[in-house]
Amino acid sequence: MTSWWQKAVVYQVYPRSFQDSDGDGIGDLKGIISRLDYLEKLGIDAIWLSPVYKSPNDDNGYDISDYEDIMDEFGTMADMDELIAEGHKRNIKIIMDLVVNHTSDEHAWFVEAKQSKDNPYRDYYVWADPDAEGNPPNDLGSTFSGSAWEYSELTGQYYLHLFSKKQPDLNWENEKVRHAVYDMMNFWIDKGIGGFRMDVIDLVGKKPFEKITGNGPKLHDYLQEMHHATFGGKDLMTVGETWGATPEIAKLYSKPERDELSMVFQFEHSGLDQQPWKDKWDLQDLSIPALKEVFTKWQTELSSEGWNSLFWNNHDLPRIISRWGNDKDYRVESGKMLAILLHQQKGTPYIYQGEEIGMVNYPVESIDEVDDIESINMYNDRLARGYAKEDILKSINAKGRDNARTPMQWDYSENAGFTTGTPWLHVNPNYHEINVKQALEDSNSLFYTYQKLIQLRHDNPIVVWGDFTLVDTADENVFAYYRELDGQKWLVVTNFQAKKTSFELTEEPKSTIIQNYNDKTYQKGQLDLEPYEAVVFEIK
Ligand code: NOJ
Repeated sequence: MTSWWQKAVVYQVYPRSFQDSDGDGIGDLKGIISRLDYLEKLGIDAIWLSPVYKSPNDDNGYDISDYEDIMDEFGTMADMDELIAEGHKRNIKIIMDLVVNHTSDEHAWFVEAKQSKDNPYRDYYVWADPDAEGNPPNDLGSTFSGSAWEYSELTGQYYLHLFSKKQPDLNWENEKVRHAVYDMMNFWIDKGIGGFRMDVIDLVGKKPFEKITGNGPKLHDYLQEMHHATFGGKDLMTVGETWGATPEIAKLYSKPERDELSMVFQFEHSGLDQQPWKDKWDLQDLSIPALKEVFTKWQTELSSEGWNSLFWNNHDLPRIISRWGNDKDYRVESGKMLAILLHQQKGTPYIYQGEEIGMVNYPVESIDEVDDIESINMYNDRLARGYAKEDILKSINAKGRDNARTPMQWDYSENAGFTTGTPWLHVNPNYHEINVKQALEDSNSLFYTYQKLIQLRHDNPIVVWGDFTLVDTADENVFAYYRELDGQKWLVVTNFQAKKTSFELTEEPKSTIIQNYNDKTYQKGQLDLEPYEAVVFEIK
């Protein structure tokens, strides 16, 4: 059985930075509605909407204080209903971000839970006594630096927070918690949404006292229970954020007969520019052979069981052109190469806002320019541990989450048309060259490459279903692969570097499907490839 999301392309909107409609400097739902025609023109099938729920914004909405209400800055539930309805009119489904590993400490459940040990909501969260010396119960660390335990004066116990101390972890072993989450999911399903993106869902089976966080023993039982209690049988799309997934684990989540999720985001490729066994801030250069190996592994292992997601970017990752392309001399060429390389693979592709116009990182000179809690906590932590300030800033500029969160660049007007007020986060000054208006007026822009890639997926079963085979290349920095389906064969060739090279084309191409150096023609034999050149041939 096939599903709509197997042929779909999803666009991620980070609402805070997408489009402001009321001049308060913060993007909002009305702003998103006003840009739906643009997204329809791009051709996407669904929007993954980063959290819009009520939140004190300690982690920009990933700390939710009410799952059935909308953040004041973003608008009202009526605006949300309108977004869903206006999306439907354009065949664009809304995928809600489901953040249920933790809530905000301002959620009514936690406000109650912290009052007393016998409060009915106490067991919605994870509590523990101090150890014999009065320290946290164990040395589990938070993703946002420091201990994962916070002391609560009122009852003399610690609570668990795998993220910030304003994001207490829910206790999924408590059946009441699970059913409260399912009820909330059904509230949204009844509104006509297209599915859920599930935030750090691999953590909900945690066993913190055994120091197990990801992939806990009950994780898949919980997901099957959730499936049956909520979206099962409803043709919705679900994608789990799973940092620790291997292909074997991804199959557990995404094999249809297991009744769990449609697919997961796995991050193996994304870890290739960090030093092994260190964290994301410890940088190393990307190796193209390693990237080929990882993509090939996932394409092959999930070819007939489970389903892949395909992405370069999201609101937690730096801009791909600055990261693995070239934002100085070949911004457009490398952006198109990266797009073609990813979008010709098998799986569901995701585009992060601004990626389609080639937005790039925003380098900062001092920590005062940084908003993101993860970067700020890491900065303070590493400074205290004796790291040099310049090195920490280098890591933040390479990997910091603000890079992806600067406002969307719409046009040449002040603040790039994002807001008439003061933007909550700096607008990249390069908006004079990089913006949607420019992209739409230039038939050779990155936007039209993305538009064409989406159209190719919609029109050609080979892009959706074809088998993937890596091609051996003389230059290890050329990444080439075949897609094959029912006697049809396409060849994707990309030069993943800023210098010229060559590639041996062993078969006469029937036609050229898409290319990023427009005036070139191709024949069997040695191809001279330009920097970041990408071309897709129909071979059979
Ligand atoms: C993953 C989200 O993508 C990230 O932005 C957030 O900070 C953490 N989960 C915690 O919710």
